[in-house]
Amino acid sequence: MKDHYEYPYPSPELESQYPFSVYEHERLTEEAMLDRAKAFYAEMNARRSVRMFSSDPVPQELIELAVKTASTAPSGAHKQPWTFVATQNPEIKREIRVAAEQEEKINYLENRMNEEWQEALAPLGTDHHKEFLEVAPWIVVLFEQRYETRTDGTTHKNYYVKESVGTAAGLFITSLHRMGLATLTHTPTPMKFLNKILNRPENERPFILFPVGYPLDGVKVPDLKRKDLNEIFTTVLEA
Ligand SMILES: Cc1cc2nc3c(=O)[nH]c(=O)nc-3n(C[C@H](O)[C@H](O)[C@H](O)COP(=O)(O)O)c2cc1C
Repeated sequence: MKDHYEYPYPSPELESQYPFSVYEHERLTEEAMLDRAKAFYAEMNARRSVRMFSSDPVPQELIELAVKTASTAPSGAHKQPWTFVATQNPEIKREIRVAAEQEEKINYLENRMNEEWQEALAPLGTDHHKEFLEVAPWIVVLFEQRYETRTDGTTHKNYYVKESVGTAAGLFITSLHRMGLATLTHTPTPMKFLNKILNRPENERPFILFPVGYPLDGVKVPDLKRKDLNEIFTTVLEA
């Protein structure tokens, strides 16, 4: 019998213990699916990381919507082990810039990044100057929650934290691009300074720092080529 399951999910026993609801899903025609997939691919293929932002203000509601979208990401055991910390305070942004530049000076000028790494970065031309951290209207730092602390003081494990937070980061970037904003996936490592500046607890570790805003008019980006499908995708035809 087509699509018959011997072990349906949820089992009647499971459903008697935990709440379940019917997943609302509209099945599209293949033509509609193709149209949507092609349009979305074209839109996402136009996304670029920028390193010069306009200082034009961006409403907080847009940032909040990007965070809400990010938080729709799947996560290990549905722990949602992420905190997004946003600031548009000029003094805090300045502090972050100064601390990031300090770390990046060691990375770039004192060879904390090895030669191979520096060679890989050469076409991007990145260096220790991080002016954009002060110019962009928002800095949003995504923290991973290595474990959970509850209000009663107990601590609890989180699962697949990096995988979960990375997935949320992708949705955050996608949401910003979709609404016409730009960001840079920035990792001025080590980033522990962000806990101090942003007053975050011990269970949180900085994952990615996102300056967010409009791209500066006429901003340039490296002419990068993305891998062809045949370099990143294969099918297995025979057992
Ligand atoms: C995990 C991660 C860390 C990154 N860290 C930095 C960074 O610290 N500084 C920077 O300028 N770009 C950083 N990038 C951005 C990449 O250089 C950029 O995504 C890549 O060159 C491709 O360009 P595109 O985003 O425009 O497609 C990072 C990207 C990722 C995914």
